[in-house]
Amino acid sequence: MKRAMFIGCILLIAAFLCASYLRAQKPETNADLRDFMRAKLSHSQKLLEGLTTENYDLIAKHAQDLALLSEDEQWQVFQTADYINRSKEFRRAANALAEAGRTKNLDAASLGYVEVTLKCIECHKYVRSIQK
Ligand code: HEC
Repeated sequence: MKRAMFIGCILLIAAFLCASYLRAQKPETNADLRDFMRAKLSHSQKLLEGLTTENYDLIAKHAQDLALLSEDEQWQVFQTADYINRSKEFRRAANALAEAGRTKNLDAASLGYVEVTLKCIECHKYVRSIQK
């Protein structure tokens, strides 16, 4: 009887430790992903700053950073053909914007910025549609 209670206690403690371990782990990984995704927003703001102040280095840098993010492992939240395609299209637009920055072409960069932004919005619309 005593022995059974002892084993029962050990199991309870183990279950409790496991549960708190899992609770501690999960929000952390979610927060990591959120930080990773939110970085896109600060790059976009920097791009707008670069366009409005005609700072081509800023444009080229942050467009390239966006293209690189899209190749990161953390970006690959979904494995659907649609998601992969949208990621590819986004990268193409970000690379074109970076190129417009490098060649100091403000008109091309302005259009490129709009195109990149449309890709943000479209992919987010798509992601919401498959999350429901
Ligand atoms: C190919 C798809 C795709 C593109 C393109 C894309 N995103 Fe995202 N974005 C995601 C996914 C997936 C998430 C994570 C969604 C989730 O947590 O459910 C996300 C999350 C975010 C978040 C975090 C939202 C939160 O929960 O705080 C922000 C901000 C964001 N994206 C901004 C942008 C910006 C700005 C761009 C364009 C420069 C962009 N995204 C382009 C797929 C994309």
